[in-house]
Amino acid sequence: EKGGWSSFMAKEISEQPDAVANTIRARIGDDGLVHVPELDGLDELFRGVSRVVIVACGTASYAGMVGKYAIEAWTRLPVEVALSHEFRYSDPVVDASTLVVSISQSGETMDTLMAVKYAAERGAKTLSICNTQGATIPRESDAVVYTHAGPEVAVASTKAFVAQVTALYLLGLHIANVRGSLTSEQITENAAELQAIPEKIGEVLAQHDEVAQLAHWMSDTRSVLFLGRNVGYPISLEGALKLKELAYIHAEGFAAGELKHGPIALIEPGQPVFVVVPSPRGSQTMHAKVVSNIQEIRARGARVIAIAEEGDVAVLPYADTVVRVPLAAPLFEPLLCVIPTQIFAMELASAKGLDVDQPRNLAKSVTVE
Ligand code: F6R
Repeated sequence: EKGGWSSFMAKEISEQPDAVANTIRARIGDDGLVHVPELDGLDELFRGVSRVVIVACGTASYAGMVGKYAIEAWTRLPVEVALSHEFRYSDPVVDASTLVVSISQSGETMDTLMAVKYAAERGAKTLSICNTQGATIPRESDAVVYTHAGPEVAVASTKAFVAQVTALYLLGLHIANVRGSLTSEQITENAAELQAIPEKIGEVLAQHDEVAQLAHWMSDTRSVLFLGRNVGYPISLEGALKLKELAYIHAEGFAAGELKHGPIALIEPGQPVFVVVPSPRGSQTMHAKVVSNIQEIRARGARVIAIAEEGDVAVLPYADTVVRVPLAAPLFEPLLCVIPTQIFAMELASAKGLDVDQPRNLAKSVTVE
């Protein structure tokens, strides 16, 4: 079933253009507007809600964090992202005006299921984003938007993540359409950007060998840090999680702005640091601040691997390695920037002789609380 691939994970990483394209299919009309048929009949709900709470665990929660930026930008509804298990036992503020969006690849994660049930008991409307038809979480929810990543076999989530992020973009644009918080033109522009992503993911995948070589050079490294800002922040968390899960090495993701509030003390000569560099086309200020973070860590001897868009020359004098991603609208960049971090983790684990599909101590679906 792996086809010619060395692992399910390698196969699933390569399937990401399709995971995104299939999740978009039939949800962007010929008029270029976003319309998710599964959400028909919920217009009144979307007009009436006053906030959104996203509940999820692990990688799905990082997808949720990306979704927060997009949904807030497009709908102006406040969005909170909570880990399901923290949400469930914290006496959360939820009522009939709260839309609780759960995200789960398996649809069976007990922590998330309990959060959904709890939210429903409190009168909240529940919507799930799920990759498994007919799973328990969608059955317990008022509505479901399926991701169409196809079955994910490798324990570490890759194609499900990009499909979850895609579904959140679609949800955000759908709600913006219903609420009138974006013009039709703004929606069609964003929808076109999203439709262009699968091909761009293909361009990032084409750099597999360069990233693999980097991982093989670094196979005896004992700690890797990841920095990102705004939508790049959840990607830094996701990159670190993949490395922990697969390569069993210490890895930590930080919001780049936090660097001077503590983590910079960790920087010593040779410390590898991945930096997800935001596009200067989004915010010049944010871009400049991240470039200055790179200078600061480089001055202390860090080995910098920058993930930056094509043409961003500001990073060149300071980065040891630059992995390029094609230009995309800044909110959509996570779908591109995450790819090199997945390849890096998989290849570093392979270089250490580890089983990338079945990491130790982990199960594909966590059905106990
Ligand atoms: C990471 C990973 C886990 C899952 C998490 C949620 O690679 O696979 O962090 O993302 O256990 O699982 P689902 O999405 O099935 O609820």
